[in-house]
Amino acid sequence: MSVKKVLVVGLGLMGRGILQVCAQSGLEAYGYDMSEEAVRNATGFISKSLEKRVKKGKMTEDEKNSVLKNIKAVNSLEDAKDVDLAIEAVYEDINVKQDVFKKLDAVLQPNAIIASNTSALPATPLASVTKRPDKFMIIHFHQPPTVMRLIELVKAIQTSDETAATAMEFCKAINKDPVQINVDCPGFLTNRTMIPLLNEVIYCIYEGVSSKEDIDLAFKSGFNWPMGPVTLCDFIGLDTLLHIMEDLHHRRGGDKFIPCPLLSNMVAAGYLGHKSGRGFYDYSK
Ligand SMILES: NC(=O)c1ccc[n+]([C@@H]2O[C@H](COP(=O)([O-])OP(=O)(O)OC[C@H]3O[C@@H](n4cnc5c(N)ncnc54)[C@H](O)[C@@H]3O)[C@@H](O)[C@H]2O)c1
Repeated sequence: MSVKKVLVVGLGLMGRGILQVCAQSGLEAYGYDMSEEAVRNATGFISKSLEKRVKKGKMTEDEKNSVLKNIKAVNSLEDAKDVDLAIEAVYEDINVKQDVFKKLDAVLQPNAIIASNTSALPATPLASVTKRPDKFMIIHFHQPPTVMRLIELVKAIQTSDETAATAMEFCKAINKDPVQINVDCPGFLTNRTMIPLLNEVIYCIYEGVSSKEDIDLAFKSGFNWPMGPVTLCDFIGLDTLLHIMEDLHHRRGGDKFIPCPLLSNMVAAGYLGHKSGRGFYDYSK
């Protein structure tokens, strides 16, 4: 099956970017969020992002308009029931995600593929709440989806080879670099290795080892990272980071994934990073 119509469920940081990438690749791209404000923010964000591309000469006005025409914000999942692929990008909470999958399973055509953009949850418990576990995949984009080319592809143990092949073809069609993860393990490859590092960086701030600015400088100057790890935490979203860590700790055990108390406290205070205007850094201006 070749994917022509895509639905993105959850239009926060990740969903809005995935929607834009799909629309830019000429796909019919439907977007749904339970929050009307999130839908408004997402469509506004995409328009601004495309406008910037036009100003920089990376896209013509006509191209921008045809991308915008590909995007359809819908008020209910039923309004997108004919899509070939639905990608879920709601909160990193297994119960919220499973609820979305049950709803998608009930409305989509039987041959449609259901995918999750989860950061770290295993695929099999997500696939298992649907009546089509053979048509379930994790398609894990990286932030921001409009820029980052990596996608991790993870199969549930029930996923068919045909579904995996369609997902691979879809990723290539939207000009990404898909990496196949061979085992359905929590955290896949990137977050399994990156999350303990980011947690250790937060511990360094907590213990006063170095300032956040110097930590970022160290990684940029020492390892050629384009963005320091503290800034990266703010861009991921500290609530999302905490959810991922807690879930990885629960599923993998050991002490590698126990969240630093500073991270838990920042989330409790509502300092969620770039998206809330304040995280380790201040984005209010
Ligand atoms: N932030 C990152 O860097 C990053 C990177 C890769 C993957 N992810 C994963 O992508 C997913 C989304 O993360 P995010 O950072 O975009 O989160 P976010 O908080 O920015 O956005 C989540 C959106 O989902 C919506 N939502 C929640 N429940 C819903 C429901 N039942 N139905 C419809 N919409 C619902 C919310 O209104 C919100 O707009 C998570 O699973 C996360 O782990 C995040």
